[in-house]
Amino acid sequence: MARIPVESASATEIVVEGKRLASFGGCNYLGLAHHTEVLDAVRAGLDRYGLSTTASRETTGDTMAHELLEAELAGFLQTQQCLVTPEGYSANLALGQALARDYRVAITDEKCHRSVSHAVAAAGMRVIAYPHLDTRAAGALAGEYVREGVVILTDGVFAADGSIAPAKALFDVLPKGRSLLVIDDCHGFCVLGRSGRGTADHHGLSGAGMPLDSRVLITTSLAKGLGCYGGALAGPSSIVQLAQDVASVYRGTTPAPPAIVEGARAALKIVQRDPILMQKLRANTDRLRRGLAKLGISLYPTPAPIFTFVTGDTASMDRIHRRLIDAGFLAPLIAYPGGPTDRYFRVTVNAMHTSEQIDGLLAAFAGAMDSEPTLKSDGENEAKPLKISDGQSGGRELIGPWDFSLSPTLTPRLPALPS
Ligand SMILES: Cc1ncc(COP(=O)(O)O)c(C=O)c1O
Repeated sequence: MARIPVESASATEIVVEGKRLASFGGCNYLGLAHHTEVLDAVRAGLDRYGLSTTASRETTGDTMAHELLEAELAGFLQTQQCLVTPEGYSANLALGQALARDYRVAITDEKCHRSVSHAVAAAGMRVIAYPHLDTRAAGALAGEYVREGVVILTDGVFAADGSIAPAKALFDVLPKGRSLLVIDDCHGFCVLGRSGRGTADHHGLSGAGMPLDSRVLITTSLAKGLGCYGGALAGPSSIVQLAQDVASVYRGTTPAPPAIVEGARAALKIVQRDPILMQKLRANTDRLRRGLAKLGISLYPTPAPIFTFVTGDTASMDRIHRRLIDAGFLAPLIAYPGGPTDRYFRVTVNAMHTSEQIDGLLAAFAGAMDSEPTLKSDGENEAKPLKISDGQSGGRELIGPWDFSLSPTLTPRLPALPS
């Protein structure tokens, strides 16, 4: 998708070229990027700390905000220790740099976010992909390489279609010996699980009062469910402390600004205090899912607030996308790696969307589809749920961090928003 320079934004609306659109894009799942308490915490943080620490945390750039967030995240995720990193991407890189010393082989889901496969490849580990969600293949590969030290890595929730990693089953197939499971939970954190603890909680691997096993590590962005900025890795002290001690991507960089970290602390408090937000997210997800299904749109079955689908050929989808914008709705039509096709709708809903906005989007979709000669919004379309994998990539080995074959980064540019 071409860039859309936003002029202003709330949790559910954006203004682009002076036009106000109800927005169903992005990953502000609980709306916390616009929560008044979070914004107040950021303002107070600016007054207290200024804008930047201007130095690595390991020299003079550490703050109480970072220290406290680490303790609070470790408590929330039920892990021994947590390290806050500049972004989610660098959380994966830092973990890779720590793991590569003792673990030589990475077994990755073929549809992992690029930061995951990049992290382990850049750290010098051998990287072998298993077919998407295929626990048996992951376990077999892990068993083959356990003597060298092996790590299974997966996204918790795959952003391209909302599919959810079988985290418990992946944990169960870890071979005895030197083996670990890493879950990049950028899209599950604050979304899945009884109280937003994410994919591990969703699968009963951890939860309130139930610590995460010391062979499991979680990485996440602070920029999605928490609506802030930064990243974190959490797990056993032996590995998290090693990342703090050796990972140059952490030690040699300026941390996320302390004011933003104060925002993340406020956001995490809200997640724990206000379960209503998660309930609203789930209700909105159900409402949109039911409505899209009524239009005959086939959807991947997932509880995640992510809806990936195609409605026809590229030209037809372009026309639908434009009609939606004319009607005041942004439903992103994207060309992004890891998706089911070259171009697809990837619609997300958040806790702040009103029923009127969701129903408005559905009505706009119905109208836009009815204007297409071959489509009807009467539920009679025959589209099948899209798969993001053909299951052909098992056993493929990346030749280095520059190998984009499993997750290409170059995508065609799409036309800009119609004015
Ligand atoms: C699965 C996944 N991992 C890592 C990242 C990187 O996180 P950040 O944007 O905080 O660097 C993203 C997206 O941004 C993501 O979707």
